[in-house]
This record gives sequence, structure tokens and C-alpha cells, in this order.
Amino acid sequence: MSQTILVTGGAGFIGSNFIRYVLQHDPDVQIVNVDALTYAGNLTNLEDVADSPRYHFVRGKIQDQALIEQVCRDYGVEGIINFAAESHVDRSIHSAAPFLETNVLGVLHLLEVVRKLSIPRFVHISTDEVYGSIAEGAATEESPLRPNSPYAASKASADLLIRSYIRTYGVPAIITRASNNYGPYQFPEKLIPLMITNALENQPLPVYGDGQNIRDWLFVEDHCAALWLIYQRGSEGEIYNICSGEQRRNIEVVEAIVRLLNKPSSLIQFVPDRPGHDRRYAMDATKLRQQLGWQPTVSFDEGLARTVQWYQNHRQWWKAVRDQSYREYYQKQYGVLSGKAEQ
Ligand code: NAD
Ligand code: DAU
Repeated sequence: MSQTILVTGGAGFIGSNFIRYVLQHDPDVQIVNVDALTYAGNLTNLEDVADSPRYHFVRGKIQDQALIEQVCRDYGVEGIINFAAESHVDRSIHSAAPFLETNVLGVLHLLEVVRKLSIPRFVHISTDEVYGSIAEGAATEESPLRPNSPYAASKASADLLIRSYIRTYGVPAIITRASNNYGPYQFPEKLIPLMITNALENQPLPVYGDGQNIRDWLFVEDHCAALWLIYQRGSEGEIYNICSGEQRRNIEVVEAIVRLLNKPSSLIQFVPDRPGHDRRYAMDATKLRQQLGWQPTVSFDEGLARTVQWYQNHRQWWKAVRDQSYREYYQKQYGVLSGKAEQ
């Protein structure tokens, strides 16, 4: 039986991979994508599905409750999956307000729509960053929330708000908490695509602090498969951790990229640390593996090689994204276009 789902933030990195994944894997699903098209939203990420009769795009913010409500009514939406967010930790350190507006208030408005229209499914994409730095062992879904950046605090706030809507109003919500994703279409401000694209241009590779921080790397397609499984078979009111267990130190990741691209390691430069930089993220994903039978299929070595190759083959995509971002930054800083931005 066919169903229509609303994907919010579907023009970003994970959302666009998710839309492609679902359209490919489930012929009975129609998707409406509502995205504000911030600097991180890019419709070229979805060029290959844009003409599908099962895909529709509406530009808008998740804070615009009237619009979200209208879209749900117009398309007969039966479930919402929320990817929309300000997602970059460094940006949250420079300016926290947009993070609160989208990541907290935006979620509040989505919850209100779910409640008002009795939408039977709401899956919210959260992050391992809500658990904070984990010195030893791994966070389970029951572990305390100890966010350390404004970004992480905004995501933790949304998780708590959702919890309250589940308890108070019986909203049929599920929270997923994923570890660091990587793969095609990731905006080149995050570690892996930044290092690949800088290395391809023989630019310095800035490693924060001593480079010993640990992240657990999840290939984006494995994440999408987990999310679709949870959307279909997850239990209402539950939280699911999603990670591969492929933990690496940042410096190991950067060295691997340098090797794959056959570049000199002299490109690597240690730079001042990120304030409040979490040392290690680690989660336990036993619940998802045992209850829903999910497991990752792409090893870190394979995923990184595929990602490097994708960026090598899609120079036009990331060059346009970088130039556009530079243009916006310059305009904001100086009120004019100048230098590289005018080329
Ligand atoms: P992204 O920054 O690439 O994409 C975010 C998308 O949301 C963009 O298309 C943007 O235009 C859109 N958006 C931003 N504000 C909006 C608003 N107010 N209304 C509607 N659309 C808006 O992010 P991503 O890396 O794809 O992350 C997606 C989600 O997954 C986020 O919620 C993030 O917190 C979470 N997450 C990301 C990772 C990761 O490693 N990237 C890991 C765990 C969880
Ligand atoms: O853990 C999940 C989170 O992963 C998501 O919730 C976030 O949306 C996503 O941005 C990501 O956050 P991180 O801060 O872990 O990712 P980032 O790619 O910014 O950094 C990864 C690690 O690399 C981190 O320890 C900081 C370091 N780093 C990052 C950049 C951009 C560097 O050393 N140099 C850099 O230039």
C-alpha cells in the first residue's frame, strides 16, 4: 500500500542520501521534501530524483508551522522524518542563535503539527553528541545527556522536548542518535570532506589540537538503512543509537586520506583546538542490532575509499558549494562581493 512521508531537511547531506535510498528501495513510498535551503541545503544533491513522480519539493522552514501543516494536508502525509538542523559544531561556537531557532523551536513546531493532525509517525534524527565526551566504555540509550557545545545542547534540548511530548500528549515519536556520518554529498566543512577537498587542491589540512580525538564513523548509506528500518519497525517512544563501532583518532583519518590521494603528509598542520572539544564519542548500538537486526555493511576502509573517489569524481559539485559558501561569507562580513567571490 502506498504512503506519503514528509522528509524535512532533505536537501542536506544525510537527508538527500535518505531520500535517494527510500525511493530506490521502496516503490510504494512518495516523499515530500521541505527544506529551507540554507548554506547546507543543495538541490543538486537530488538532481537524479527531482523528476520522479514520487518526489516533491517545497521550500520552507520547519518553524513555519502553518506551511508544514498545509503540506501535510495537501499531500496526505502519514509520517515525518526530521533531518532539518544547523549541524556544524564550529558554526554553533561562533553563533548559537540559529541553532536554537531551528534545532529546538523548529522541532517544537513539528511536534505541534504531529499532535494537531494526529500524524502516526515522527522520527527525529539526533546525535551521539548529546551524551558528551565518553572517557571509557560506550553510551547506551539510558545514559545521561551531557552536551558540551551549543550545537549539542540544542540537539539535547530537542530530545528532551520530544520526550515530554511523548509522555504528555502521547505523540508517536522515535529518536535516533547517530555517530559521525561520512560519504557522498557531505558539505566540505566537516572533517572528512574538508580534508579530501583541501588535499585535492594541495591546501593545508588543519587538525585541531593534538589530533587524538576519537569519533565513530558511520557510512551514510548504512545510516539511511537503519533509519528506514526504524521508521518502519521501530517502537513508538523509543530511542535508538546508531553507530558502526569503527572508532578512529582524527589524525588517523587525515593520514588515511593523505595516503589514498597520494599527497605529502607535510600538508597536515596542527592548529589551535576547538573550544570545548569533546575527546571521544562512543555509543552502544546493541538495541538496534538485537531488536531490529540492523548491522553496518560498509567498513571504514571501504567507505573512506569510496568517499575519496566520489569527491575526486565530483569536483564541480564541491567547487560550486565552496565558492557559493565563500561568496555568502564574504558578503556577510563585508557587505560586498570581492576577490575570489567575483570570479
Ligand atoms: P546538513 O547541514 O548537511 O543538512 C541540514 C539540512 O537542513 C539542509 O538541507 C538545510 O537547508 C536544512 N535546514 C536547516 N535549517 C532548516 C530549517 N529551519 N527548516 C528547514 N530546513 C532546514 O546536515 P546533515 O549532516 O545532513 O545532518 C542531518 C541531521 O542529522 C541533523 O539533524 C544532524 O543534527 C543529524 N546528525 C548528523 C550527523 C553527521 O555526522 N552529519 C550525525 C548524527 C546526526
Ligand atoms: O557525532 C555526530 C556529529 O558529527 C553530528 O551530530 C554533527 O552534525 C557533525 O557535524 C559531526 O560533529 P563533529 O564535531 O564530530 O564533526 P566535525 O566533522 O566537525 O569534526 C570531526 C572531528 O574532527 C572533531 O574532533 C573535530 C575535528 N576537526 C574538524 C574540522 C572541521 C579537525 O581536526 N579539523 C577540522 O578542520
